[in-house]
Amino acid sequence: MRIGMIGGGGVAQTLGAALAAQGQDVVIGIRNPSPEELAKPRAQAVPLAEWRARTGAKVASFAETAAGAEVIFNVTQGQHSVAALHAAGAKNLAGKVLIDVANPLDFSAGMPPFLDRALSGPTSLGEAIQAAFPEARVVKAFNTIAAAVMVNPGLIPGAHDLFLSGNDAEAKAVAAGIARSFGWTSLVDLGDITGARAQEAVLPIWVRLWMTGGSPMINLKVVRA
Ligand SMILES: NC(=O)c1ccc[n+]([C@@H]2O[C@H](COP(=O)([O-])OP(=O)(O)OC[C@H]3O[C@@H](n4cnc5c(N)ncnc54)[C@H](OP(=O)(O)O)[C@@H]3O)[C@@H](O)[C@H]2O)c1
Repeated sequence: MRIGMIGGGGVAQTLGAALAAQGQDVVIGIRNPSPEELAKPRAQAVPLAEWRARTGAKVASFAETAAGAEVIFNVTQGQHSVAALHAAGAKNLAGKVLIDVANPLDFSAGMPPFLDRALSGPTSLGEAIQAAFPEARVVKAFNTIAAAVMVNPGLIPGAHDLFLSGNDAEAKAVAAGIARSFGWTSLVDLGDITGARAQEAVLPIWVRLWMTGGSPMINLKVVRA
């Protein structure tokens, strides 16, 4: 499968490396794929030149990445995701499965972040992306766990859940297949893309649990009577 990551941070690098290790054809897309940018240190990630050498995968522009991909991950900072996806090009997203991993977190007041007011409450980033790119098949997934857990759910002991939402059942099945390839066994379908409101609303409690517990190895498990 040809997989494009829009974004080059820790999440893109972790998902991209795991998928490349499976033999998938992975490209990471960033705004300016110049040699200087690839050599640049990255917070909670390695320089992309190092990632490229380690994985054998490629780094390209947002638009080149989206154009060549069958499945696209949005792994940009949530407040900039719609702009980044516009730079990737609506025509390059049309008809594609677009897995939205981003969270619309506002760090302007420091830690803990809050949900961006324009992308929460009666809406969500997932919905904003689906509305901006109506021909893309948006699936919200993987946004409620740390990057390392996305590709290795066994890092957290016991049963725990991965949430999915989206309007297109086939696209959700593709995202679920990728999740299963990483070892996820408990997938919780939250319905259409408005389910992204709930998935993104996990972040305030998730960040609090990290701050109070001292580790990001946290996930939720739904328990029903
Ligand atoms: N870190 C985690 O464990 C984790 C877990 C769950 C969900 N998430 C979510 O996943 C997403 C990616 O996380 P991350 O830690 O990998 O993010 P990050 O390193 O902070 O940023 C990812 C990408 O966002 C792009 N970006 C930043 N500002 C931009 C702008 N103004 N316009 C266009 N693109 C811009 C950057 O592109 P350039 O490279 O071109 O600068 C960068 O590669 C975030 O939304 C985060 O909330 C993260």
